[in-house]
Amino acid sequence: MYKYSIGLLCLSILLIFSNSCKHKQIDKMPKLQPVNHTYSNYDSIELKHLHLDLSVDFEHKKLKGKVVLEINNPSNCHFLILDTKQLEIEDVKLEDSVSTAWSLGDEDKILGRALVIDLAKGTKKVAVYYHTDPEAEALMWLSPEQTLGKKHPFLFTQSQAILARTWVPCMDVPAVRFTYSADITCDKQYLPLMSASNNFKKNSLGKYHFDMPQPIPSYLLALAVGNIQFKSLGENCGVFAEPEMLDKAAKEFVDLPKMISAAGELYGEYAWGRYDILVLPPSFPFGGMENPRLTFATPTIIAGDKSLVSLVAHELAHSWSGNLVTNRTWDDFWLNEGFTVYFEDRIMEKIYGKDYADMLMSISVGELEHTLESMMATAPGDTKLKLSLKGRNPDDGVSDIAYVKGAMFLKYLEGLYGRKIFDDFLNAYFNHFKWKTVTTEEFIAYFNNHMSKWPKIKPNLEEWIYAIGLPSSCPKIKSKEIERIDAMIVKIQRDSSLKSLDTSRFTTQHWMHLLRHFNPDSVKSLMQELDTTYGLSKSTNSEIQCDWYLLCIKNGYKAAEPYMEQYLMTVGRRKFLEPIYEALTKTPEGLEQAKRIFNRAEKGYHAVSRNTIRELLFAK
Ligand code: BES
Ligand code: ZN
Repeated sequence: MYKYSIGLLCLSILLIFSNSCKHKQIDKMPKLQPVNHTYSNYDSIELKHLHLDLSVDFEHKKLKGKVVLEINNPSNCHFLILDTKQLEIEDVKLEDSVSTAWSLGDEDKILGRALVIDLAKGTKKVAVYYHTDPEAEALMWLSPEQTLGKKHPFLFTQSQAILARTWVPCMDVPAVRFTYSADITCDKQYLPLMSASNNFKKNSLGKYHFDMPQPIPSYLLALAVGNIQFKSLGENCGVFAEPEMLDKAAKEFVDLPKMISAAGELYGEYAWGRYDILVLPPSFPFGGMENPRLTFATPTIIAGDKSLVSLVAHELAHSWSGNLVTNRTWDDFWLNEGFTVYFEDRIMEKIYGKDYADMLMSISVGELEHTLESMMATAPGDTKLKLSLKGRNPDDGVSDIAYVKGAMFLKYLEGLYGRKIFDDFLNAYFNHFKWKTVTTEEFIAYFNNHMSKWPKIKPNLEEWIYAIGLPSSCPKIKSKEIERIDAMIVKIQRDSSLKSLDTSRFTTQHWMHLLRHFNPDSVKSLMQELDTTYGLSKSTNSEIQCDWYLLCIKNGYKAAEPYMEQYLMTVGRRKFLEPIYEALTKTPEGLEQAKRIFNRAEKGYHAVSRNTIRELLFAK
């Protein structure tokens, strides 16, 4: 028996060894030097089309199959270099059947490993056979308990910024656009969806075909699989969700057709055919993700009163700013997000009026001021619109700077030239750069050229883009509603009484502003009354909950704790988790409490949120 198992052991070691070396390795590896967060040689080789053939294995949390890359190699480069991270590469074939040499480069913690493939003269197609790791950062495998229906598992991807490489070997850099198609096989009970032409119903084979005929960058590759159903909202739009959420979601998004026409009227025809929204389970780490044709959204925006739908306007706006005209590198991220926040504001204004849009923008500017205050002390260089993310994780560039400073920059330009001229510019810009990528410097050159018709107006582009902080020329957003709340706050705090609090015309944003601008000490004695009168601890509005729990932490109001804990256990959206955990770390008891909650909750968080919170709690 003993001898037998030794023999078996030797045999399996031999097998593992021979398996891993079965393919021919590259004789002499080229120099691997990452540029713009990619190892790929996208400057020499053009990636034209990508075809995915994958099966979804919920049991082993793995995608398995192949990707076929169609390339154009005009300079006859000897190697194709792709990005991979956490991927298990099984084999590589040229033209789908010819063996070739390939090797993986050394691992970089942020960028992963380059996959170097030997090409033959005239190679047009490269097939990479692979499977993903259960811990792949872009993939979130949810157990049935983590879904709304509690009966079926769920999978979704999040590729932005550089996580596509954890589920597809590719040129993972926004400078590269390619078309794609896919064949996805999954259990017959589930419906797979992609950022492509979708099926609205399950079929009996569990096999689905997808096409994305418009060229996209890799960060917009997306897949979701689960017990998903569809409800139409208009001719070219609708909503996908777990059945338990479908009707509620459809009600919340009734204004979607109006939003699509408003956006088209502003900056040109919608270019992607359909626009659908997929409502994900609550562990989705972001508010929304603009995957083309199929925005992924957090269920935390479904408040029951349409009060958080500006997020839909935002993701829809990305169909122009981001998806049609794409930032070439992550240093130019503000071109995606700043333009989108500006555009979102214009859509909101068109549909819900200027007062409401101003209130939303005023709240965002408040967040920006708060962000600036801390960033100017810790990372002033990151308060420039043009970022320097070389050697860093592009995730470090995701802040209110790109979003709100970027949008305020455009509002400043709008103010200088007037709306008509500025809208003409934006239309021309989207039209000129559509299906292309753009850098900050190209934006500046294009802007200066276009606006040379008005030489008397001299905007300070350099200061806005390359200097730290917020220029003094930043427009002031005046919101009557915000002023009304500010006046109430003064009275409430002066009298230590809630008698001046008039909530009769309150929306979610009124509450957000109120809770954020209370001085935590001044309202300490009013917390219980606030809570019992307005049921704030028990609120089911994710934004109000977040701001209320923050206030409770700051002034030690303990009655909200069980509700806050429940919130942290179910919601995975980083925007809410980060400030709450951060506030808890301010006292030793709070830090202990935060660690205890995190240890229980982390398995329900996506890697993106988990990593951020872990750093916050355990780097201290
Ligand atoms: N594209 C972003 C999300 C993103 C950015 C993911 C960078 C990964 C890296 C999306 O459009 C977005 O901005 N979402 C916001 C919502 C918004 C209304 C500001 C979010 O998730 O909070
Ligand atoms: Zn965005």
